[in-house]
Amino acid sequence: LTPAAQNLLVSLVLVQLARPDPNPSATTIAQTYNLARLLQANSTALLNTYLSAQGSPFSDPGFSAVGLRWAGVPVAPLPFLAWRTMGDAERLTRSYGAYAAFDAFLQLVWDDQAELCPGCSELLAMLGAARARTRGLLANLTSIMATMGIPAPPAADSLSLEATGVGAFERKCRGYVVCREYQGWIDRTVRDFTLLKAKYPA
Ligand SMILES: *[C@@H]1O[C@H](CO)[C@@H](O)[C@H](O)[C@H]1NC(C)=O
Ligand SMILES: *[C@@H]1O[C@H](CO)[C@@H](O)[C@H](O)[C@H]1NC(C)=O
Repeated sequence: LTPAAQNLLVSLVLVQLARPDPNPSATTIAQTYNLARLLQANSTALLNTYLSAQGSPFSDPGFSAVGLRWAGVPVAPLPFLAWRTMGDAERLTRSYGAYAAFDAFLQLVWDDQAELCPGCSELLAMLGAARARTRGLLANLTSIMATMGIPAPPAADSLSLEATGVGAFERKCRGYVVCREYQGWIDRTVRDFTLLKAKYPA
């Protein structure tokens, strides 16, 4: 090879090396985004079905108690800049933590409703489906985090058995907060994955 040809070869090799690998998580990121988009309508329907099954005041038209919280239920809203400037690792770790908590809370709400409203088969089916989808989201998040080298948070069983020993009205309040924040988190996941999808195109 002439020196010129050698130079050309070296440059070609360097161009190959400099090209970033397509991100191996891109497909899972796109799948997670699609799943979250599909879940948006269902999480709104779950909240409305939940409220209408609880009787007054929950079923009253326009019922809302935005200030109501329940210890341990992950709160979705976040100031814009804090959300927008969050790094990938923190964004994914927080989502994982939230859905791990919803995995437990959706089971708890299912148990509460099976006792308080055994005839509410549609609501029970929706709660069961939401929990199954939550486990799917957790599987997706685990896979994305593993590929990106982000350590999975330790499995935390956030609920104590004492959670089962509360009165009917408190249970209804708790279920409302769980369904409302679950819906908020699905919306947040759509926004999170809109950002991630743009950053790691498939
Ligand atoms: C949304 O709910 C409908 C009816 O309950 C169900 O058939 C569908 O699979 C749900 N979609 C998702 C993404 O879970
Ligand atoms: C991610 O979720 C989608 C939709 O539920 C599923 O088809 C896919 O297998 C999941 N991928 C992983 C790696 O869990």
